[in-house]
Amino acid sequence: MGKLQNKVAVITGGASGIGAATARLFVSEGAKVVLVDLNEEKGKAFESELKALDADALFVKANITNEEEVAHIFKQTIEAFGKVDVVFNNAGIGRVHSSHDLAYSEWRNTVNVDLDGVFLVAREAIREMLKAGGGHDRKYGVDVRLGRVARIGCLQCG
Ligand SMILES: NC(=O)c1ccc[n+]([C@@H]2O[C@H](COP(=O)([O-])OP(=O)(O)OC[C@H]3O[C@@H](n4cnc5c(N)ncnc54)[C@H](O)[C@@H]3O)[C@@H](O)[C@H]2O)c1
Repeated sequence: MGKLQNKVAVITGGASGIGAATARLFVSEGAKVVLVDLNEEKGKAFESELKALDADALFVKANITNEEEVAHIFKQTIEAFGKVDVVFNNAGIGRVHSSHDLAYSEWRNTVNVDLDGVFLVAREAIREMLKAGGGHDRKYGVDVRLGRVARIGCLQCG
């Protein structure tokens, strides 16, 4: 039995790169995965690829900087799989520039995605985990963010 057997994992930025690699690993450990991304073409293709391997996978197109779209991610997840156990808060943008060459609009966009977006996803995930806290067979929900905003939140629900 896999380490994540029957766990439901939401992975933002799940259509490519680190998010997609994480989804593959989670599926190999028995998880059901929700792939969240702006890129619909890649997201749908990856969802099909995982389903062809008999994995439970769902692609949800969403922009993590949009409050309503973030709420929709979790609504879709609950409808499809009934719960949320793990959130990999991974979607982000990172362009390397010298500060003196960086347009303010690009700075704002980076802050918007890498900070505000991460906050919106974490907030909605915690709300969902708190709602489920008493009624499920588990005590912990986990929300992980790697990279420039290093943060691991472990929430005791039970
Ligand atoms: N690769 C690295 O060396 C590295 C280093 C430090 C931090 N990181 C961070 O790790 C994360 C993943 O990196 P990666 O290399 O896999 O990047 P990537 O560009 O391959 O994947 C990021 C995914 O996030 C999606 N995305 C971007 N903005 C989004 C938004 N607003 N809403 C929904 N989806 C969105 C993209 O469509 C893409 O599929 C990023 O947050 C990145 O900043 C990566």
